[in-house]
Amino acid sequence: MATQIIAPQYGDPVEVLEPTQTEIPRPGPTEVVVRVRAAGLNPYDVKLVRGDMGADPDRLPLRPGGEAAGVVDSAGADSGFRRGDDVVVYPATGAFAEYVIADGESVHPMPPGLGFPEAASLLLAGVTAVDALATLEIDATDVLLVHGGAGAVGSIVVAEAVAAGATVVATASPRNHAYLADLGATPVAYGPGLADAVRDAVGSAVFTAAVDTVGTDEAVDVSLALMPAHRIVSIAAWSRADDGIVLLSGGGERSRHHRRAAVEPLLADAASGRIRVDVVRTFGFDDAGDAFTELAAAHPRGKFVFVP
Ligand SMILES: NC(=O)c1ccc[n+]([C@@H]2O[C@H](COP(=O)([O-])OP(=O)(O)OC[C@H]3O[C@@H](n4cnc5c(N)ncnc54)[C@H](OP(=O)(O)O)[C@@H]3O)[C@@H](O)[C@H]2O)c1
Repeated sequence: MATQIIAPQYGDPVEVLEPTQTEIPRPGPTEVVVRVRAAGLNPYDVKLVRGDMGADPDRLPLRPGGEAAGVVDSAGADSGFRRGDDVVVYPATGAFAEYVIADGESVHPMPPGLGFPEAASLLLAGVTAVDALATLEIDATDVLLVHGGAGAVGSIVVAEAVAAGATVVATASPRNHAYLADLGATPVAYGPGLADAVRDAVGSAVFTAAVDTVGTDEAVDVSLALMPAHRIVSIAAWSRADDGIVLLSGGGERSRHHRRAAVEPLLADAASGRIRVDVVRTFGFDDAGDAFTELAAAHPRGKFVFVP
């Protein structure tokens, strides 16, 4: 038997998350069973458990954990993997566990030089960031506004846009401004006066695009004041679809293509240090609820990682 974190019902993560015993999965011909060494926590997991995205009883019990890294325990003959391989699993389901099972298509060789916690925290945010930039076709001619530039998605948006030669202005709490400047962006504090502050940050230049990773009305309204709606990509402002901004959920053939193509380069870039993944907190089977609650609040910069 093996241990896995589940939620038998929707609700406050502290109340509903619990470790449970499950059978160790057995792989089908194209599947891989991975002994989890680390699994990344994302806002999606928190929203899933709280029922923020709907509370369909047919989905219970919930099995959060959308990405992991670990060692192949058993592998189907047609999976392309062998016992003992170090791998990253994305997308995953139920990764806050001792073992996770996934189709070989969702399992990726882990490049040398990358630690399990970092590898387990990279891809969900990373492919989203790359999708946003590819959708906007950002290049060296762009002046890009990033809302939430110090977050998991935002920091990869900033790093990749700077690498593409774009001029980048990014919003964050003042405590994260030095980090954003280090990435190559001009930091601006969100809150009252944001529109003037971002205009001042670029002087006579004109913003050509925005990536919103926050979803607040402030982020959308400031962006709309600076550029046409079709140049604003949001991964979080679902209530603002009627404004004509581009909402990215990962669905649609173009997004799926961007995200699939981003996996191997992101892993290579993280291994080489070109992309930084900072792990700020680890949690285990018994304190998952606290970790979920902390991630949902204003939290320190960096990823929260489950270690069984
Ligand atoms: N649609 C998709 O495909 C997709 C994929 C991945 C994630 N997401 C969503 O994208 C969002 C961000 O995910 P993440 O993993 O990057 O989260 P994260 O690491 O927790 O980052 C959130 C960021 O939001 C910033 N923030 C908080 N309140 C703000 C405000 N009022 N104005 C501006 N910025 C504010 C924080 O900045 P400071 O700490 O500097 O205050 C923090 O950097 C989540 O809602 C997540 O569910 C969507």
